[in-house]
Amino acid sequence: MNKNAAVILAGGQGTRMKSDKPKVMAEVLFKPMIDWVIDAAKEAGIEDICVVTGYRADLLETHLAGRTQTVHQAERLGTGHAVMQAKEFIAAHAGANILILNGDAPFADAKTIRDALAQHENAQAAQTVISACVENPYGYGRIVRDAQGKFLCITEEASATEEVKKINEINSGVMWFNADVLSDVLGKLKNDNAKGEYYLTDTVDILLGEGKTVCAFTSENPDAVLGANTRVQLHELNEIARRKALEKFMLDGADIPFTDGVIITPDCVIGADTQILPGTIIREGCVIGNNCVIGPSSLITDCRIGNGCVLNRVQAENSVIDDGADLGPFMHVRPNSHIGKNVHCGNFTEIKNSTIGDKTSVSHLTYVGDSDVGSGVNFGCGTVTTNYDGLRKHRTVIEDHCFIGCNTNLVAPVRIGKNAYTAAGSTITEDVPPMHLAIARARQTNKEGWVEKTGRKK
Ligand code: UD1
Ligand code: CA
Repeated sequence: MNKNAAVILAGGQGTRMKSDKPKVMAEVLFKPMIDWVIDAAKEAGIEDICVVTGYRADLLETHLAGRTQTVHQAERLGTGHAVMQAKEFIAAHAGANILILNGDAPFADAKTIRDALAQHENAQAAQTVISACVENPYGYGRIVRDAQGKFLCITEEASATEEVKKINEINSGVMWFNADVLSDVLGKLKNDNAKGEYYLTDTVDILLGEGKTVCAFTSENPDAVLGANTRVQLHELNEIARRKALEKFMLDGADIPFTDGVIITPDCVIGADTQILPGTIIREGCVIGNNCVIGPSSLITDCRIGNGCVLNRVQAENSVIDDGADLGPFMHVRPNSHIGKNVHCGNFTEIKNSTIGDKTSVSHLTYVGDSDVGSGVNFGCGTVTTNYDGLRKHRTVIEDHCFIGCNTNLVAPVRIGKNAYTAAGSTITEDVPPMHLAIARARQTNKEGWVEKTGRKK
């Protein structure tokens, strides 16, 4: 017996988005809509997935990177025509059920998909359409029923009478088909409608006419059916997804006193009593411990942050920040950095591809790049690791308990031994042994009476 499979329709340009990208690449919470749909299908237990590409298929193929099968729809002649392009894929799943999904409806969830399948199988239906009642049905296909509530057909907005337009139960675009029925009915679709397209939705009327069982599965979650055809709808989907994610984090113990400008992607983990302040965006892959204060105005992507950390106006990417680190205001942690426990990094400091040992202090106006810094090190204001010689990057090593004087340039590769000091204003080009003081600057001369002698006295 073949396994159930899914076809995702993603060929459309999304003319109404006014974009050069395929519509399904438009993002909800920074994740392309197509990925929401693929993830839902996988979570519902479907492994075999075929995406119908069309407009800018190259971009979509690159994005999918072999995660699913694809077929190309060279001309966009409607949703029915899009499914026709997958006829071999559908035939290969004869005897099973095929799930059709729209790539521009990101909230179709795994539970709804599974529950609809259960009903579809129980009823031994030819087709089961997932529907929902929404406040504003404009633009969607309407689920038309007779007086007894029996499902009759789906009528698209463009073909709907005023009476039909009042129906608020809509077609989500997500539907289960018996694979053999689908293979057969695709050949029967016609394009004699207002838009001259092959509508997949016409299958309902055709199959009922053949005496087959067609069901509507009415989802209790009206959001599950929402799609985005315009940027305004895309914004609405983003707001729905954002609110849902924030509510989940709050219920898990995060303290978000004001949600203004706070966006957190649903995959993140945030510990109890961690406070998130306005203007903060926490993106894919972040795991944040307890009792932190993140924000205001921080952007954190793919970071592991321990307990009791403060990130005030910090931008951090792809890094690890240990317990008790106190960062900001206005600092940047660039990729591949590891900031130790109780480290302090103050305003206008940047750490890149470096490890910073516990209790080290980098208080102000300092760049530490490609460096291995020990613990208990003190950086004076304005220190720079000069890691790049124009061709290659080199590492700077600073061992435990060093004291780097203000305005030191550390010309890498260079090593500062344990407990060593550098004098303020030094340009260090050679290693400094442990416990030494390195002074690397011209000796000062004071010229006695120079101001008077040169006529500058006021
Ligand atoms: C469609 C449904 C409508 C439903 C709505 C739900 C039809 C005829 N209408 O309308 O009943 O309420 O979705 O959101 O099915 N696509 C292709 N190739 C094409 C045309 C479309 O791949 O030739 C893809 C699009 O990229 C999109 C999906 O199919 O992902 C739906 O197409 P779209 O044009 O957005 O249909 P709607 O007008 O929203
Ligand atoms: Ca749509």
